[in-house]
Amino acid sequence: MAMPSPLLDLAGITLEVNHLPRGIRFYTQVLGLELLHQDGAQGVAHFRVNGAQTLTLWKPVTRQANDPRLAPLRARGASHLHYAWQIQPDDLDRSKALLDEQGIPWTEIDLGTPERPDPTVYFFDPFGHGLELRGVDLSDERQPTYPPVPARRPAHALPVMGLREVALAFSDYAAMKARLPRAYGFAYAKEQPDRDFAQFTLGPAPEPDGNGTPRRWLYAWDPQVGLADMFGGDHALVQFYADVAEVLALVRAEGLPHVLEEGRLAVRDPEGHVFEFLPPL
Ligand SMILES: [Fe+2]
Repeated sequence: MAMPSPLLDLAGITLEVNHLPRGIRFYTQVLGLELLHQDGAQGVAHFRVNGAQTLTLWKPVTRQANDPRLAPLRARGASHLHYAWQIQPDDLDRSKALLDEQGIPWTEIDLGTPERPDPTVYFFDPFGHGLELRGVDLSDERQPTYPPVPARRPAHALPVMGLREVALAFSDYAAMKARLPRAYGFAYAKEQPDRDFAQFTLGPAPEPDGNGTPRRWLYAWDPQVGLADMFGGDHALVQFYADVAEVLALVRAEGLPHVLEEGRLAVRDPEGHVFEFLPPL
């Protein structure tokens, strides 16, 4: 048996955008997220997803760090990131109608089986980030540290409850597969037989099957175009809840560049991603 993973849950993602007002418009109007903070000069917009998760947009500006704290790690927002939102399965039809009303093309794929369908909807934001709406069963016993709750969003907005997964690209897939558990403690769950695609459960123990569970996931791929033309993100910035002291010990042993400030640990992965580990709420 492997040690329990120090990872607790997915806390947030940061996306690179080339136009902040357009990003704010999309994420408030289409997703109904609450804008917590914006700073045009800093190139930052920060949104609340739910009580435990956030989404952040960074517009890169020359000779300037979006977050000076992370400047030593040369952190950027993710480019062309595939990530997923949790919704209630009953909300999928309404979500498709809402996307139609907003003029956003979408693709539906059934990720389940004939006995247990798992219809999933994919679409893109204005910056090439690939979004997914994934139904989760709120009564499933496999719950994350911060379980999703039904969302109260404006009538025109998608009824998203929480962030479900983030998919990152790694050019050296084999090194990634060894490094993510060793250097950070991610719980390796499984990989696909036909392509380089590894799945990590964001929780203390790996889960064999992601379908239906409200748990959160990290996917790690080689640079491939996956389902619904989705890319894994490059130079992603992703936030996780974790036992920070435990992750810090692993990161130090690995010798990775990191910043520790006010109990938050940020680490630059050799592939250029920056992972931030936050203490539990
Ligand atoms: Fe996905």
